[in-house]
Amino acid sequence: MAIFVTGGAGYIGSHTVIELIKSGYDVVVADNFSNSKREAVKRVKELAGKDFSLYEIDVCNGKALDKIFTIHDIECVIHFAGLKAVGESVKKPLEYYKNNLNSTIALSNTMIRHGVNKIIFSSSATVYCPDNKMPLTEDSLTGGCTNPYGWTKYMCEQILTDVVNAGSGFTAVMLRYFNPIGAHESGKIGEDPQDIPNNIMPYIAQTAVGRREFLKIFGDDYDTADGTGVRDYLHVVDLAEGHVAAVKYAAQSSGGVDIINLGTGNGVSVLELVTAFEDATGVKIPREVVSRRPGDIAICYAATDKAKNLLGWETKKTLKEACADTWRWQKNNPGGYGL
Ligand code: WQD
Repeated sequence: MAIFVTGGAGYIGSHTVIELIKSGYDVVVADNFSNSKREAVKRVKELAGKDFSLYEIDVCNGKALDKIFTIHDIECVIHFAGLKAVGESVKKPLEYYKNNLNSTIALSNTMIRHGVNKIIFSSSATVYCPDNKMPLTEDSLTGGCTNPYGWTKYMCEQILTDVVNAGSGFTAVMLRYFNPIGAHESGKIGEDPQDIPNNIMPYIAQTAVGRREFLKIFGDDYDTADGTGVRDYLHVVDLAEGHVAAVKYAAQSSGGVDIINLGTGNGVSVLELVTAFEDATGVKIPREVVSRRPGDIAICYAATDKAKNLLGWETKKTLKEACADTWRWQKNNPGGYGL
């Protein structure tokens, strides 16, 4: 039996594959390398000390999925594959709806055809309405997403919920990530955005290594302690372990939908994050406050009780470790995975 990981060459996918193998699972990975590199898979195999099957396919392609499900005995699917840049989704909404929804539909159809009924879905805190009170619980209001990317995650949750309610026998565990940061302690794998990083941590790391001149801080006039945006930054290895916990939970479930936040439960401001990075690495980050980024909210952090109670999972790594691990990856790989 194997765990089928779509988008397994990506930032979160690659870290999750290592933790799955460490926990004794066989894995099968599919990725179209539109936003990831083959080098990442090579390094994951070295770090995990185990080979696994890799298929370069578009997860929207049902025929390609069928072949994989025919060759391999799949017990559970972790669906990471998807477009995930908030800003890009505003410019290319149709690409995001086509890719993110069609891949989930094709995957669900294939699972039904092959009698596979466990899926862990990579969702996001962007599905929550902007004006919820904090911390965000899994019952906080959703919808009213500020960008097409968030809407695709919201719609995919609905698609999977309807598949469960149609009597498919699916167990669908939707994991709502907050802000993943950090890298594997080896410094061999990490976050490697294709273009100019949208997210703050890779931008900080690229500034630290000299690829960016300075960090633009998007606004310091929010209603927060220091005026900068507050987020819930969790270490990507903790996040990966959360997926292993979700696979174990799904295995003993008799079907249904579970929606679970994966975060630290703590809010950290932009200035606190930059200071933490400087303290952890000794590298000063030149920065300049500029105007707010459209669509940003002031504060966003998770309630974490459900993850603890249902999955027995909570974050263990500190912000300092995440900063140090990020820097080790970026320092060792100034250009990321390269071409
Ligand atoms: C964090 C804070 C910015 C960049 C997004 C997605 C979410 C998830 C994580 C996929 C904010 C500030 C940022 C910069 C800055 N992705 N910032 N300068 O927007 O909270 O979440 O990424 O699942 O779904 O919505 O993350 O890292 O872009 O921003 O000042 O160059 O850093 O204003 O306060 P965000 P982020």
